[in-house]
Amino acid sequence: MSGVERYGHGGDRWTAGFLFHREASDFLDFSANINPLGPPPGVLEVLHRALTESGQPVLTQYPDPRSRSLKRALARKCDVPVDWVAVGNGGAELLDLVHDIIRPRRVGVTHPSFSEYEAAARKRGSEVVPLPLSEERDWLPGREELLRWVRQVDLAYLGHPNNPTGTLFPEESLIAAAEEAARHGSVLVVDEAFLDFVPGAFTLQRQLSDFPTTLLVRSMTKFYALPGLRLGYALASPSWVKKLEARQIPWSVNGLAQLAGEAALSDREYEERTADWLHRERLFLLEGLKRVAGVHVFPGSVNYLLLRLTGRRASGGYSSHQWQRALGERGILIRDASTYPGLDDTYIRVAVRSREENERLLSAFIEWETERKEESR
Ligand SMILES: Cc1ncc(COP(=O)(O)O)c(C=O)c1O
Repeated sequence: MSGVERYGHGGDRWTAGFLFHREASDFLDFSANINPLGPPPGVLEVLHRALTESGQPVLTQYPDPRSRSLKRALARKCDVPVDWVAVGNGGAELLDLVHDIIRPRRVGVTHPSFSEYEAAARKRGSEVVPLPLSEERDWLPGREELLRWVRQVDLAYLGHPNNPTGTLFPEESLIAAAEEAARHGSVLVVDEAFLDFVPGAFTLQRQLSDFPTTLLVRSMTKFYALPGLRLGYALASPSWVKKLEARQIPWSVNGLAQLAGEAALSDREYEERTADWLHRERLFLLEGLKRVAGVHVFPGSVNYLLLRLTGRRASGGYSSHQWQRALGERGILIRDASTYPGLDDTYIRVAVRSREENERLLSAFIEWETERKEESR
């Protein structure tokens, strides 16, 4: 990979700075899907207090190796017993650790989906078994196809909502997949990194005890805007939690992250503000993008939107790389979605951000559209 996503992900301002000759801090970032409200105020207070406290024990002492206080807070929030919770250095750590426990021969990933599922498989030499999703079928597999795929693999990943399509799996599909995995003896990881953005969406959380081979993995970095601190958790049976913890490097979750996580969970008002913002701004951006010539928007159900570039090459259509460059040169970062297996260079993804920022994105798209028209005259 040679573009902005050379390390596999959006949000890489440093590579973008190098490619587009700007300071890393000089980008408005629509390529990572982070809550633009910033961290909950209580998080900033707790961190400030910890960093200014005499002796700064949060820095000068080792953190709790088992994040016990945070685990208790997560168990309360998710309404599960505390031994059903594992905390990790971002959801990414837990998604990856599962491989070290079961050493799968065959790993199932949907195409497209978050790149780390496949990366974890490839770096250990596991065979990747794709489940192709297509826009014609709303990015969802048929029931039989899904169950056949679960039976073919030792470990299957489903993104709920899926990244980059933003789609949620129907309740029946998740239950059927979890049942099939338990019957077949395969492991199902449901990646719910973005589920907090869809309050009320279905999750297997309440039925987890019926599905001993299913794990739910969540991120606290997107919803609570803490990607720099790294924090995520898994909900799974106590035996799974023990196995995950046994494979973690010692102190993988640092003291600041533990404090921040606990403070974040106690802020209900922040959850409501986030839901209000997303409801308003998702619609605003969606409607605005529908008016931009040359793009088709997939509405999804979350805080990012997948777009297909519809302009035909022969009549002056541009690729995802060209769109990313044009926007990057204007100081705006968008995700070139051609790096997702199953998509090509006619796809890009943008995050939903604040009104002012969404307006800037729409203006930049329109400016680039006008420029393209002039060029093709
Ligand atoms: C679908 C999905 N799952 C998991 C992660 C990892 O998140 P975290 O920052 O918690 O490691 C990401 C990050 O982009 C993601 O997009």
